[in-house]
Amino acid sequence: MAFDDALRIILSFFLFTKYLQNSVQGEPQVPCYFIFGDSFADSGNNNNLDVDLRANYSPYGVDFPKGPTGRYTNGRTVADIIGKDILKGVNYASGGSGIRDETGKELGDVVSLNEQLGNHFTVLSKISAILNSESASRDYLQKCIYIVIIGTNDYLNNYFSYQNKNDYFGPSFYQTSTMYTPQQYANVLVKQYSKQLKRLRSYGARKVAIFGVGLIGQLPTIVRTFGNNSSMIDAAAQLFSRKLLPLVTSLNKKFTNAKFTYINTTGIVTTSAPLLAHLNTKDSCCKLRSDGSCIEGSTPCLLRTHYAFFDGFHPTEAVNVASAGKAYNKLSPLHASPYDICQLAQLP
Ligand SMILES: *[C@@H]1O[C@H](CO)[C@@H](O)[C@H](O)[C@H]1NC(C)=O
Ligand SMILES: *[C@@H]1O[C@H](CO)[C@@H](O)[C@H](O)[C@H]1NC(C)=O
Ligand SMILES: *[C@@H]1O[C@H](CO)[C@@H](O)[C@H](O)[C@H]1NC(C)=O
Repeated sequence: MAFDDALRIILSFFLFTKYLQNSVQGEPQVPCYFIFGDSFADSGNNNNLDVDLRANYSPYGVDFPKGPTGRYTNGRTVADIIGKDILKGVNYASGGSGIRDETGKELGDVVSLNEQLGNHFTVLSKISAILNSESASRDYLQKCIYIVIIGTNDYLNNYFSYQNKNDYFGPSFYQTSTMYTPQQYANVLVKQYSKQLKRLRSYGARKVAIFGVGLIGQLPTIVRTFGNNSSMIDAAAQLFSRKLLPLVTSLNKKFTNAKFTYINTTGIVTTSAPLLAHLNTKDSCCKLRSDGSCIEGSTPCLLRTHYAFFDGFHPTEAVNVASAGKAYNKLSPLHASPYDICQLAQLP
């Protein structure tokens, strides 16, 4: 659900629940759900922004009854699937965005993680105004699940700007690859991310799941752009992802009243090899523009469940269902640590 629609719904929900405090039937595990992130989670926030990266046209959304929504896939995202029973929440995610403020700005007005946190702050003050109580608002917000899916664009639309691969091997819109080694960049990113997660906690979040960056060097458009140099992108991004479990551990130690957990996107993909072996992981389901988005109005593949990627970057719903399942109910500590999202929801 896009930010504006969700805001309207959450506000009407708060007005409504003032009169219906203890309804129990069919209660989801948690009463509310907030999503921060990039195009892996965006459900249409970029639709009305001045940005080149949008997915509000056919064939995106081909498996939704009403067609395109702004999601960067044929159907639901991982964030949708995890939250399928939670009707109340706000999705702040914006395709192209990152941990760093300048990430993706070459594409237009993408909403950075810092700006998403700013939007959340605005929503919070509306919630406390409606509940007419800071403490009621705090009690409510600490029951919510918060997920953050971010970091991919700090590599693909910043350090290794794929828009023009010569950027990486020459002058670029982004300066980071000349300022930092991959190791230094991973450190800088984690340091900023840590501040942002602390800010989210200071806004009342107590159950937070953060997703690592997956094997982005293997995305069809990245392979096409970088050839076998694309493994250097995975190597760099994994330097960042490997720091996230230690970050979660230290946040959990420092803030005993909050629980953070790490969803190992790479671990989930790696252990999904038997599933992926049955899928076409090389070609995209839709016909691609040179930037890796689908060509507007083109006819997508018919057998969407046979493809891993819908466009040049984003998994199909079939893959999202499998990934969300493991993030929600882990089958191995490689999937989620220390908690999967179901366990996170059940924590007191
Ligand atoms: C691979 O990287 C080298 C520089 O390290 C560059 O000269 C070459 O063009 C790149 N190849 C591709 C296919 O991008
Ligand atoms: C990179 O790809 C080229 C063909 O595109 C191949 O000849 C070469 O052996 C590859 N290099 C490595 C290190 O895999
Ligand atoms: C995440 O999964 C990868 C691939 O299976 C594994 O190498 C890595 O150790 C895992 N990371 C954590 C923190 O569990």
